[in-house]
Amino acid sequence: MGQNPQPTFHIGSIPVYGQLILAPMDGLSDATFRWITRKLGSAYSVSEFINTLDYANQKSYEKKRLLFRDVERPFAAQLLDNDAVRMAEAAARIEEEFHPDIFDINMGCSARSVAGRGAGVGMMRQPGLVRDAFRLVTQSVSVPVTAKMRIGWDETTHNFLELSELAIENGARLIALHGRTQKNSFNKPARWEPIAELKKRVNVPVIGNGDVIRAADAHRMLEETGCDAVMVGRAAKANPWIFSWRDRQEVSIQEVYQLARFQINDMMQLQPERGLMPFRKYLKAYLDPYGIPREQMKKLLVCSDHQELLSLMDEVFTALGASKDAPEIIDFSTG
Ligand SMILES: Cc1cc2nc3c(=O)[nH]c(=O)nc-3n(C[C@H](O)[C@H](O)[C@H](O)COP(=O)(O)O)c2cc1C
Repeated sequence: MGQNPQPTFHIGSIPVYGQLILAPMDGLSDATFRWITRKLGSAYSVSEFINTLDYANQKSYEKKRLLFRDVERPFAAQLLDNDAVRMAEAAARIEEEFHPDIFDINMGCSARSVAGRGAGVGMMRQPGLVRDAFRLVTQSVSVPVTAKMRIGWDETTHNFLELSELAIENGARLIALHGRTQKNSFNKPARWEPIAELKKRVNVPVIGNGDVIRAADAHRMLEETGCDAVMVGRAAKANPWIFSWRDRQEVSIQEVYQLARFQINDMMQLQPERGLMPFRKYLKAYLDPYGIPREQMKKLLVCSDHQELLSLMDEVFTALGASKDAPEIIDFSTG
């Protein structure tokens, strides 16, 4: 995976190589996509959030979100809840069964159903819960615990500095900061100054996050904030190559085709029961720049048979200049 000789930073005792990391995203950062981004350069992995209330109730889908390849390590399991004891109990069980390298506590999810019950960014209104969650989860597992938070609940409560310090006092070994509040939806730009403030204040690694679309944005965030690494979320869906510091227009159709073909085959192998639907959003994003006819795109996006989709993809990508028989540019099938 082209590691630098020196780690970029450590999470506890775990070395991390590289400055770009795929942000956890519900419905997007599954095992296949995370692996693709790791092969392209993402420095470690964070799972989609694991709702520890559902985990405690033995909902099978929460366990599926903990699937990862051994070569994907370091792998962080992200916990989401409003109950510190339940988080700690789930973390202990997850460690026993899945052996992640890191646990991350989600203090950023702003979905109303989550934040409204005091989980995700809802934790940012409850310092007591932040203290207990980090203390108890840290005590219940043998691996480092990290935090991912926003700058606060709203414009009157930018409490990321206090809560980061509280999390660190209670065991957090890294803070990832998304430069928005709960109230700021994605239509307002993320603020990066808080990331710089946090980096100056704390002595654990800081990851900056929010509105990194192109490689130049990542360079600028690193420079302007001094953060140790950058998390890329939404932009990665259309451009996983950003983890090799490449913008989308620098990627050949051959590479797009090979990645897309690996992705659908791997998704179907790991979780055939999910079918083709979860792949469609990627395929659409990968093909968007080429302006292919609407009817053709529609055919791809409604297809529900794996082999038929591969044939349709072959037709579309070949017409755009790719070849099915060319040697793999990146061999995603190996570690
Ligand atoms: C569809 C979607 C799902 C997300 N799911 C999670 C999640 O499970 N855990 C989490 O910590 N953040 C989640 N996030 C937030 C992202 O990790 C990230 O903080 C946010 O998208 C800002 O980064 P960006 O501007 O690069 O997209 C999600 C974001 C999106 C768009």
